Amino acid sequence: MKKQKRYLVTAALPYANGGIHLGHLAGAYLPADIYVRYRRQCGDDVLFICGSDEHGVPITLGARKEGISPQQFVDKYHELMKRSFSDFGIAFDIYSRTTLPLHHQTSREFFLNLYNKNIFIEETTEQYYDEQEHLFLADRYIQGICPRCGYDKAYGDQCERCGSSLTPRDLLQPVSTLSGKPPVLRQTRHWHLPLQRYENWLRQWILHDHAHDWKANVLGQCKSWLDSGLQPRAMTRDLDWGVPVPLPDAEGKVLYVWFDAPIGYISATKELRPDDWQRYWQDQDTQLIHFIGKDNIVFHCIIFPVLLYAHGGYVLPAQVPANEFLNLEGEKLSTSRNWAIWLHDYLADLPDRKDELRYVLTALMPETSDSDFTWKEYQARINNELVAVLGNFVNRVLVLCKKHAGLQVPTPGSLNPLDEKYLNEVQSLPSLVAAHLERFRFRDAQNAMMEVARLGNRYLAETEPWKESDPQRVATVLYTAIQLVACIAVVAEPFLPQTAENIRAMLRWDQRYSLQQIAFPLLRAGHPLAEPRLLFRKFEDEEAERQRNKLFQSQSTLPAQIQEPMNLCTYEDFSKLELRVGTVKAASVVPKADKLLQLTVDLGNERRTIVSGIAQHFSPEQLIGRQVCVVVNLVPRTIRGIESQGMILTAEGADGSLSLLQPAESVPAGAMIR
Ligand code: MF3
Ligand code: ZN
Repeated sequence: MKKQKRYLVTAALPYANGGIHLGHLAGAYLPADIYVRYRRQCGDDVLFICGSDEHGVPITLGARKEGISPQQFVDKYHELMKRSFSDFGIAFDIYSRTTLPLHHQTSREFFLNLYNKNIFIEETTEQYYDEQEHLFLADRYIQGICPRCGYDKAYGDQCERCGSSLTPRDLLQPVSTLSGKPPVLRQTRHWHLPLQRYENWLRQWILHDHAHDWKANVLGQCKSWLDSGLQPRAMTRDLDWGVPVPLPDAEGKVLYVWFDAPIGYISATKELRPDDWQRYWQDQDTQLIHFIGKDNIVFHCIIFPVLLYAHGGYVLPAQVPANEFLNLEGEKLSTSRNWAIWLHDYLADLPDRKDELRYVLTALMPETSDSDFTWKEYQARINNELVAVLGNFVNRVLVLCKKHAGLQVPTPGSLNPLDEKYLNEVQSLPSLVAAHLERFRFRDAQNAMMEVARLGNRYLAETEPWKESDPQRVATVLYTAIQLVACIAVVAEPFLPQTAENIRAMLRWDQRYSLQQIAFPLLRAGHPLAEPRLLFRKFEDEEAERQRNKLFQSQSTLPAQIQEPMNLCTYEDFSKLELRVGTVKAASVVPKADKLLQLTVDLGNERRTIVSGIAQHFSPEQLIGRQVCVVVNLVPRTIRGIESQGMILTAEGADGSLSLLQPAESVPAGAMIR
């Protein structure tokens, strides 16, 4: 007998601070589910692990905003997400959560193991502290002026206006968002993971050992992390929500959420299989596979593997098939703007269209680059593919069988070369589907599955049983065609589990096969059949229109609990801006500020002094004489004692470099920009 293979499949633990949306599904949960269903069909030993990620700063912020405790907050969202997944039919073996005592214990032990091996570097650094609230401020709790663009509500980790990533020390005039007071710098001690010490090992393991079996987008991101130099990373935080650091004198400190979250995969496995979880995590025969979105690559390919390796005894991920992002109607998903389709909303509106959603999301899966979900595309895929190809083929065959053989598989005469040709062609498809799935090519796999139905339709078009006068020949054609229907019931299962069951119900057939085992005939002459029923209904224009409107309208009417300030700008807002072209007449560095330049800009009828955070991108000499675009009616602001009377516009390159905006042809100083 074939040795059973062992797979441990994980899907990223979603943060318990919102719902599950279609981007999450297409990115991680749906491909993981398809893969797991395929593995189960193969008869492999598979565990499918997920749960809620319930620690971290965003959770504490969300709870504060809703005026409830973090525990109440995660209880609520954990339930919501768990229910969405189960209503949708994602086939987890366990959906756990990281606030469970078992998880805290597992994380503590893991940390202590590394601590006792002297893996961490203990380091004291200065960080912002809120003296009124008596706590160290996470980056998100600090706001100030962005040194790059001058936006005065930039966060300590990022400026949401210009997108620059920042550290709290970059902000000018920082303020604690908790107390509204300027924070002070205070010393604090943390334990850091010295990633740089593992660089050679990581290079060998990722860029050499997995050079040929990991996806290109994953390898590319890993390479660019490795090439830009790994830094020590703090594995602890000053926060009162999370797994407390299990050391004396570490009061007020918790494990970094990205330390404990992936360990959540281990805790959940322990919860599910208390007696033999080690077989899955510590036996080198296990294939560990992490399904994630692209924003999680560094954590699953670099940080978590280093933790596992440093601990020792654990398997490392064999595959990390990360997907890119799914956009929505041409725009990036944004949960803060509610630009998203929430799974719980979808299921409430379209409860009997689960397989339709699976089908469309798989067809659009962002496997190699970002892709775009639109309701129009959704409609077209349902009507032109599920209804017109798959549903139509299955229905025609069953209706004809009913008519000619009375709800049973007809008794064939001898098959002719045409019948044989179709059976042979179809026979090769299940293993093609399997081959694509083995390589995480879900779109191609689903397409190969649909090819069975396409061939079926072509077979009916060529044989035209409805015109055939010889009853023996009709029986033979229908006998052949219904073999293809049975084949679809098997091959469609990973992609369209409900549809596969519906076909099986009509075929009164419960024989299970793996994709590799399918061999015709699957159904014998005389096998009883049930009444034909339609598998899919068309998605009408009005329905598509209704969903589109709902999406566009819900943009501004956020459910209260996830409301965040809107960043939309009306035309009126926009027309308040006065933009002009100016010429840089003088430029100099601002003493003791390594990011700032002081510029004198000629606007035709006046000269302005502008302080701009571009010193790391341009030398003063590079700027003098250049034409620039200036926001001229910004409220003046004093930066480092210099009054800045405007702002220079730049564009950010992919690598974070800045490029000055300037008119394509020279125009008079002071020219209006419209
Ligand atoms: N909560 C994270 C996110 O939603 C993912 C955590 S994955 C895990 O991006 F590995 F940490 F569990
Ligand atoms: Zn900015």
